[in-house]
Amino acid sequence: MTQRTGSSATRAVLFRRKSVEDLVAHGGEGEGGHLKRSLGLGQLTTLSIGATLGSGIFVVLGQAVPVAGPAVVVSFILAGITALFSALSYAELAGMIPLSGSSYSYTYATLGELIAWVCGWCLVLEYGVSVASVAVGWGQYLNELLNLLFGFGIPDALSQPPGDAGGIVNLPAIAVVLLAMFLLLGGAKESARANFVMVVVKVATLVLFCAIAFTAVKAGNFKPFLPLGLAGMSAGGAKLFFSYIGFDAASTAGEEAKNPQKDLPRAILLSLGIVTLLYCLVAVAAVGAFPWQKFDSNEAALSQVLTSIVSNKLWSILLAIGAIVAISSVVLTVLYGQTRILFAMSRDGLVPKFMSKVDPKSGTPKINTLVVSVFVALLAAFIPLGKLADATSIGTLFAFGLVNVAVILLRRRRPDQQRSFRVPFSPVTPLLGVACCLYMMFSLDVETWIVFGGWMLLGLGLYFGYGIRKSELARRT
Ligand code: ALA
Repeated sequence: MTQRTGSSATRAVLFRRKSVEDLVAHGGEGEGGHLKRSLGLGQLTTLSIGATLGSGIFVVLGQAVPVAGPAVVVSFILAGITALFSALSYAELAGMIPLSGSSYSYTYATLGELIAWVCGWCLVLEYGVSVASVAVGWGQYLNELLNLLFGFGIPDALSQPPGDAGGIVNLPAIAVVLLAMFLLLGGAKESARANFVMVVVKVATLVLFCAIAFTAVKAGNFKPFLPLGLAGMSAGGAKLFFSYIGFDAASTAGEEAKNPQKDLPRAILLSLGIVTLLYCLVAVAAVGAFPWQKFDSNEAALSQVLTSIVSNKLWSILLAIGAIVAISSVVLTVLYGQTRILFAMSRDGLVPKFMSKVDPKSGTPKINTLVVSVFVALLAAFIPLGKLADATSIGTLFAFGLVNVAVILLRRRRPDQQRSFRVPFSPVTPLLGVACCLYMMFSLDVETWIVFGGWMLLGLGLYFGYGIRKSELARRT
């Protein structure tokens, strides 16, 4: 009897939930102060585009072509559809519960504290670890540009992390993260302005690439279209899912948006539409202009294609500048997202309280931004993370799956709650979202699952060692 009471008490602790009313009414309030509302639809949309468009299209495309062949175009569409199902669910929940915690907060309202923690921990893979791995790639493009301009680059010892090509420390990675940190400390509005300019540059770079590559497209390059079968095409899709990660970044600005209910759903869906269109155009242009068998997964795909078409160095220089700007904007916006998610988790007591203290002057979580940036910079400088893209994808897919489940549960439990956007054909659409996420997760290799398993164990250790005792909800109940 006592044992049964004990186990139901444990269940009550692990699955304690925040009510939607509580989240909406008091979510933005905390002892540390609240964030400043300064972002409009344009800034929110470019925040999501900024976080999405980056090394996926500039680098990962080159790894997916050898796996899928010309069918990589369909792989992009498959990954885009998976992203779309989840984006619809994000749009509904971001409009309904507009908080910095994004899917972590939605999960807290539906599946309870333990799963919310797991979701937040997966978001650290999606945001914190991915920003570090993206920063590692930034140095490679910087070196390419220096080589094109001056004929030399930063020596490997100072531009690669230990264990990679004779590296000792990756200084460019530290530089780009610190640069993003200074922008973020200046305020969300200032960061959003800088990001807007960077997004314009990266979109223009990809449009320029398409304009050049389309002049060299040959129908023969698309034949055979499926040289590696349907399995290759879907494995390519799983790889390319990485390039869609980030469309949800606008949802981490829930407490800084001027009109969150209306603008967050729009920003999420608009950014995904723009990015998908660009990706498909770039993929058609790239495999149409350059035989798929010649793509080398160790080289930057787009510059490989471009140098095969035009000999003038100027185009390669422009492409390298575009890639550097593109990746800088991913670093800025994804770092922003990570600070805001940890801000929400800290307000709930699941991570230390100093992470939710707001600087009254800039209206930003200053200490949080400093801690997260230094941590990410060190990670990028000393750990060879270039190969962690798949681990980032599996964590993100897990979090996206939970968001789809949250939509279904909240429709059943809270049909009366006001929604500024509704997923069409629910529960079919979110269920398809869950199925796509699971399918993509199971298309990833065993090593990725092992890394994911280890990551989860570490996260559970942290929750049972800290969060479970410090939870604000525990204090109130
Ligand atoms: N989607 C982001 C990128 O491609 C993570 O860099």
